[in-house]
Amino acid sequence: MALTTDPVALDQWYAVGSLPVVAQITRLLGQEIELSAGANGPVVRRCDTGAVLATRQKWGLVFATFGAPAAELFDIAEAHESDRRFVPCGWVTMRASGLRVVENFLDMAHFPFVHTDILGSEPHTEVPRYDSEIRRDVDEVWATNCTFFQTRIAATESAGDFVRLTYRVPTPFTVMLYRVCPSAPDRLDAIALFIQPMEETLCRAIPLMWLVDDRTAQAELLRFEQVIFLQDRIIVENQRPLRLPLEPRRETPTRADSSSIAYRRWLKEKGLRFGTTGAA
Ligand SMILES: [Fe+2]
Repeated sequence: MALTTDPVALDQWYAVGSLPVVAQITRLLGQEIELSAGANGPVVRRCDTGAVLATRQKWGLVFATFGAPAAELFDIAEAHESDRRFVPCGWVTMRASGLRVVENFLDMAHFPFVHTDILGSEPHTEVPRYDSEIRRDVDEVWATNCTFFQTRIAATESAGDFVRLTYRVPTPFTVMLYRVCPSAPDRLDAIALFIQPMEETLCRAIPLMWLVDDRTAQAELLRFEQVIFLQDRIIVENQRPLRLPLEPRRETPTRADSSSIAYRRWLKEKGLRFGTTGAA
């Protein structure tokens, strides 16, 4: 597969590796790229032409673009708060469209069935009504006032309770979750998932967490996240089609899907083709 011609996909920043850079060959938008540690910072090159891509370093990651993004990388306010635990998790590769991974991240309805006895359990399967919107001023998708009964809402907690969540989609291939922190109810844990779309139906993703949690061992935090992520990988790899359909009525929506509907509408308005059932 060659580099996509989709201008919407080309004009985005993508996480393509962690810092410090380990020299490697990887893929982005169908194109083989090479990461290396240059004298003045990370270097990302196209393997076919040798052209050097524009890069940024943020949150312990290297970002690159083939195009001309309309804006710099978005901000995560919680990342500036020095008393937080910053927990970069590991990269996970998935044979699915990165857009499917975002949509799965937004979906609360699967918690009791996929993350049984961790993020949900039967009979608590109902997704209470919440609000979804495309925020025009920032060009992001948000889902607010989300609640869900979870068996074990964070690594610090052992009892079940209604968790209060806010979802944010700052770019087509990035999704965030803000969770009212169980151990500090006036603050929000922030979890971001950065997706590197390698091919239309192949991606890798890395979760980064900024937590208000000075108790849980790092190893346990990573294990908690990894268990959840591997359960999600099975789901996204088994969805058909692997690409995300943007046409209305291809899949029957339910009330719980309102964030997914807003996300798909937003992608369709942008004209994104890469990773969708429309041709890239
Ligand atoms: Fe999940």
